[in-house]
Amino acid sequence: MSEDLKRLAAEAALDEVRNGMRLGIGTGSTAEHFVRALAEKVGEGLEIIGVPTSERTAALCRELDVPLTTLEDCPELDLTVDGADELDARLCLIKGGGGALLREKIVASASTRMIVIADAGKKVEALGAFPLPVEDVPFGLASTRNAIARALSGLGYEAPIWLRGGDTPFVTDGGHHILDIDMRQITDPAELSRALLDIPGVVEHGLFIGIADAAYLAGKTGVERLVPVTE
Ligand code: A5P
Repeated sequence: MSEDLKRLAAEAALDEVRNGMRLGIGTGSTAEHFVRALAEKVGEGLEIIGVPTSERTAALCRELDVPLTTLEDCPELDLTVDGADELDARLCLIKGGGGALLREKIVASASTRMIVIADAGKKVEALGAFPLPVEDVPFGLASTRNAIARALSGLGYEAPIWLRGGDTPFVTDGGHHILDIDMRQITDPAELSRALLDIPGVVEHGLFIGIADAAYLAGKTGVERLVPVTE
């Protein structure tokens, strides 16, 4: 059921893809449906070039003959389509459940537009129930973790932090580790973003603020296209 919803959202987003586009191609199980649907269109003659947001996505694209390039050769993209772990009404996102948040954020930020694809269950009132991934350099990780804990406490959060993978730490495509943080409820995503990015050792975090332009959410009643609600 959930896979069907992810596929429906992914296929709906394909409507936004035009001939000649330079695409950012997301990572995760929903993005995988998008890659498969895109590959079909490419097989039927659609001409696009894609920048994958992970080695995993790159491998799938190669397997399915989706043409790829890099941000070095193609630094400006038209559209990125990617999944999310959570999104709110302003289309602020938590991403990085699959560990690709750094490349995902670089690619989305290099794109004129970013479209989120997800099942409707990912939409929340306030971000934070899904653990927030924070990507860090391995050097000095214990100190970085302490600095994160202090910053969170200064903002009034009591938030457990753990190393993804534990004794066998997960390693990102960029050679970094991920600290996941159980924020429960993020009251001010922009404030939290600034505080995290201020810490030496933190490479990037999974909050995407002001990046997504629309979201295709698939639920029991069909696919809904959302745009950010502005206050
Ligand atoms: C990958 O690092 C993530 O940002 C994914 O985009 C996100 O975790 C959504 O993944 P699923 O589509 O598998 O839920």
